[in-house]
Amino acid sequence: MHPLRSITVAAPSRTYDVVVGPGSLAELPDRMRASLGRLGRVHVFVDEGLPAQVSHELTRRLHAAGCTVSSSIVRAREDAKVLQNLYHMLQALAAAGLDRSDAVVALGGGIVGDMAGFAAASYRRGVRWINCPTTLLAMVDASVGGKTGVNLRVQNELQKNMVGAFWQPSLVIADPGVLESLDDRHFRSGLAECVKHALLSADWGDEHLEHWTRTRLAGILAKDPDTLAELIARNVAVKARVVGSDEREEAPGPSGRALLNLGHTFAHAIETLESASPSADRSLAPLHHGEAVALGLICATRTAELTRHLGQGSADHLRSLLSSMHLPTVAYGLPAPGEIVDRMHHDKKVLAGTLRLILPVGPGRCAVVPAPSDDILHQAIEAIRA
Ligand SMILES: NC(=O)c1ccc[n+]([C@@H]2O[C@H](COP(=O)([O-])OP(=O)(O)OC[C@H]3O[C@@H](n4cnc5c(N)ncnc54)[C@H](O)[C@@H]3O)[C@@H](O)[C@H]2O)c1
Repeated sequence: MHPLRSITVAAPSRTYDVVVGPGSLAELPDRMRASLGRLGRVHVFVDEGLPAQVSHELTRRLHAAGCTVSSSIVRAREDAKVLQNLYHMLQALAAAGLDRSDAVVALGGGIVGDMAGFAAASYRRGVRWINCPTTLLAMVDASVGGKTGVNLRVQNELQKNMVGAFWQPSLVIADPGVLESLDDRHFRSGLAECVKHALLSADWGDEHLEHWTRTRLAGILAKDPDTLAELIARNVAVKARVVGSDEREEAPGPSGRALLNLGHTFAHAIETLESASPSADRSLAPLHHGEAVALGLICATRTAELTRHLGQGSADHLRSLLSSMHLPTVAYGLPAPGEIVDRMHHDKKVLAGTLRLILPVGPGRCAVVPAPSDDILHQAIEAIRA
C-alpha cells in the first residue's frame, strides 16, 4: 500500500487538504472528523453513473463512524445541471434535517461536484461540504478551487456555469481506485485538463509537468494506480497554487486564476453545440467537456502561432500529445467559424464587452491577451475542422 499524498489548498476563504491515493476513500470518516471537528448528519449526493457498491461502502463507513447518513442520486448530464434539479437537491437536504453544523458530501464527477457544492453554498446560506471526485477530470481540476454552480437555459441555449458561487470544500478525497469503472472516453477527457495544466505550470512550481506527462503516458493510460496518484497530485498542486493566488479570479493582468481558462473560451463555444462530434461517427456528439478543452487548447495554440506569441509547429506539437492520449484533435459537424466566434463573444469571461484570451506564450507559460481580430480567430477554428 502506497502512502497517501496530501496537497494543501490555501485559499483566502478556507484552507483545506486534497488527499490523493488508492484507498483514500476508506479514510473519509477519520479525515472528515479531523477537518470538521465533529461528525453529525451527512447527506451524500451520489453520481448516477457510479457503481452502487462504491456509494454503499462509503455510506456504510460513515454510518459505522457515528454519522447520521442520508443520500440521493444526482443525474450527471449537462442538461440536468440546472436550477430545477438544484431545487430538488436543496429539498433533500431539508428533508434530511441538516443544520448549519452538518455536512454535504459529493461523490461523483464534475457535474455532481459543481451541483452539490452549490447546494452546500446555498442551503441555510452555507454548510460545509466534502468533495469525493470520481472522474479523472474532477480529481485533477473540478474538485479544487471552490467554483460551484449550474448551467442556465436562455432562449433554448444552455449557457455553461452561469449561476453559481465560490464555496470551497473543507476536504477533497481523490481515490484513483474509483476510476476503474469510468469509461475510456471520460477518462481521456480528464487528460485534457492535465495537458492544460502542463501548458501553464512553469510559473506555478512544476516546470517539468509536460515532460513528466509525456514520459509517463503508458502508465497513465494503463491506469497504473501509483502513476495516476502522482498525476493527480501534481495537477492538483498546480491548480492549488493558482487558486491560492487569486481565489475569485479577480487578479488583473496575466497572473491569476484566469490562466486556468486556457482553451476554455473556445471550448465553451463548441461543447454546447449539439452537432459537434469527436469522430466521423456522429452518434458520439456532443463533445464531452474535456474533448472540447483539447480542441480549445489547439485553437489557443494556433492563435498564439498566428499572433507570433509562439513559433510555427507549436500547434502540431500539441496535437501529437493529444493524439497519443486518444483525444480528438479535430471536430466533425462544426458550424461556420463566425457562429463559433459569436458564441465566444457571449462567454461569461467577456469583461466589459472585451473578449480576452489566454494564450500559451512559451514552454509551460501562458498570458492573458486581448482577443485578436475575428479573422485570426476564424483561422484558429479552422485548425480543428475535420
Ligand atoms: N468547478 C470547476 O472548477 C470545474 C472545472 C472543470 C470542469 N467543471 C465541470 O465539470 C463537469 C464535467 O465533469 P466530468 O468530466 O467529471 O463529467 P461528468 O460529471 O459529466 O461525469 C461523466 C460521466 O461519468 C459518470 N461517472 C462519474 N464517475 C464515474 C465512475 N467512477 N465510474 C463510472 N461512471 C462514472 C457520470 O455519471 C457521467 O455519466 C462540467 O459540467 C464542467 O463544467 C467544473
